[in-house]
Amino acid sequence: MVDPEEEEAMEEITFKSDTVLSDVHLNIPNKRHLMVRLNAVGQPEHTMATPLEDVGKQVWRGAFLLADYILFRCDLFKSCTVLELGAGTGISSIITATVAKTIYCTDVGEDLLAMCERNVALNRNLTATGGGVIKVKELDWLKDDLCTDPQVPFSWSEEEISDLYAHTTVIMAADVFYDDDLTDALFKTLYRITHNLKNACTIYLSIEKRLNFTLRHFDITCEAYNHFRFSLNELEKLRDGKMKFIIEPIEATFPQFLVYERIEQLELWKIVAAPIS
Ligand SMILES: C[S@@+](CC[C@H](N)C(=O)[O-])C[C@H]1O[C@@H](n2cnc3c(N)ncnc32)[C@H](O)[C@@H]1O
Repeated sequence: MVDPEEEEAMEEITFKSDTVLSDVHLNIPNKRHLMVRLNAVGQPEHTMATPLEDVGKQVWRGAFLLADYILFRCDLFKSCTVLELGAGTGISSIITATVAKTIYCTDVGEDLLAMCERNVALNRNLTATGGGVIKVKELDWLKDDLCTDPQVPFSWSEEEISDLYAHTTVIMAADVFYDDDLTDALFKTLYRITHNLKNACTIYLSIEKRLNFTLRHFDITCEAYNHFRFSLNELEKLRDGKMKFIIEPIEATFPQFLVYERIEQLELWKIVAAPIS
């Protein structure tokens, strides 16, 4: 038998200073059991607290907000080809696959992508009826090209790249704005991909405005959010004679289907990227 005091102590999780925890997990009873959930062959499927470079192994609130919007406006995604950037566990892609035709669910890192692919397989019962196909692929915002080396796991075939550029009309990303260099890389990726698409496309971006106390400002600030808003403005101001980007916030007043806290700091943005004819 476990001593109740000892049991309580075991429930107390100590996070190392370099680990980050998605708020989605706060107030969950028996947190200890969620720290690492292993599948039948001993591989982790979901981790509660991760080092910053492994944040994709947790589900973030922005993914729930985006998924709620997809469930609410499934007409906008029906039979579409969709590209998700920084998909993490793949939850938004899995929900999209209940209505869309093809979803390129992308992120970086072989172990993360393998976890994502297992999640996709585990949820095939949800997506089977809609008939959507999810392709888990590597797409690194810090690289200009998609990897086509067949020896590299999660690389792209030439047919998939052609399909991506010929048919994608929706791009989406949830909670990917937490580091200014990565935000710049992601906006460059959006610019590059939209310029290569055959059709106009709509981009959905969710973000949680996180407030932090910084010694530099000696105040509460939201630097990552401010940098995101700055990057959005720059995109809208862009005049390259090829594309125009029209940006608008989507009010987060749509119904909530999933269980999470719809805090007021959660935002969803829509960008219409259209070629100038
Ligand atoms: C906070 S997590 C969000 C994951 C998921 N979208 C969600 O909301 O649950 C940020 C994601 O961005 C991905 N990411 C970070 N740097 C990246 C890069 N250079 N290229 C592609 N994805 C990257 C991470 O691996 C991680 O999955």
